[in-house]
Amino acid sequence: MSFSSDLRVLWHMLFTPIKGATHADRLKSFYEGQAADYDGFRERLLKGRRELLASLSPAEGSVWVDLGGGTGANLDAAPWLSKCRKVYVVDLCEPLLEECRRRITARGWTNVETVVADATTFKPAEPVDLLTCSYSLTMIPDWFAAIDQARAILRDGGTIGVVDFHVSRKYVPEGRTRHSWLTRSLIPIWFSTDNVHPSPDHLAYLTRHFERVSLDEGMAKLPYVPFLRAPYYRFVGRKATR
Ligand SMILES: C[S@@+](CC[C@H](N)C(=O)[O-])C[C@H]1O[C@@H](n2cnc3c(N)ncnc32)[C@H](O)[C@@H]1O
Repeated sequence: MSFSSDLRVLWHMLFTPIKGATHADRLKSFYEGQAADYDGFRERLLKGRRELLASLSPAEGSVWVDLGGGTGANLDAAPWLSKCRKVYVVDLCEPLLEECRRRITARGWTNVETVVADATTFKPAEPVDLLTCSYSLTMIPDWFAAIDQARAILRDGGTIGVVDFHVSRKYVPEGRTRHSWLTRSLIPIWFSTDNVHPSPDHLAYLTRHFERVSLDEGMAKLPYVPFLRAPYYRFVGRKATR
C-alpha cells in the first residue's frame, strides 16, 4: 500500500468512466486498471470482512464458495482455510481473478480454485457447506437471484455469511439501526457512480430466506473522506433443514 497506489485507485473510482455492453464488460472496465492496487485500498474501505471470516468455523472437509470473491482477499483472512476440502472463488471479473490466482500460487494453496462465472447462476458439482459474499451483493444487479442461487447450492444446514454496505429503511424493525435521511439518500446516489448499490432490502431478503445466526451493523470510515461514514452489516445465517 502506498499513496501512489491509492491515487491510481481513486482515479479509477472517481474519474474513469465505466464502459461496456454487458455486466462482465463493465466490471472489467472498472477493475482492470486498479486490480493490482485493489487489496491495499479495500482493506481500509471494506470493513467487517475479517470479523465475518473469524466468526465462521466450517468443519473439517467443508466446501466453501466465496461468491464475487475478486482477488481472494478473504482467503487470507480465513484462519480455517486449510480445513476446507475445496474452496471456489467465483467472480465475473477476470482481472481480479488473475490477482487471486497469483495469491493462490504465492501461498501454495492446493484446495482453492478460481471460477469465472456469474454468481446468479454458478452451481458447483457438489453441495456447499459455507457460502460467503463480501461486498459483492451491492455490485450484482440481480442480487435477489444471487441470494436465491446461494440458497439453492447450500446444503441443508449450511451457512451463509454476508458483509456489505447497506442503508436502512425509513422505519426499521426493533433492534435495528435507522439511518438518517441524508445517509439513506446520499450513499446510494454517490456509490451508484461506481455501480455499487447499497440497498435497504438485502437484510429483509436474507432474513426471510435464512435462519439468522447473527447480525451486526456498523458505520465505516471511508479513506480520504473525513466527515462521512457508510453503513454496513454482517449477517450470518443458516439454511433450514427440511
Ligand atoms: C467490491 S468487490 C468485492 C470483492 C471481494 N469479495 C472482496 O471482499 O474484496 C465486488 C465483487 O463482485 C464481483 N461481481 C459483481 N457482479 C458479479 C456477478 N454477477 N457474478 C460474480 N461476481 C460478481 C465483482 O467482479 C467484484 O469482484
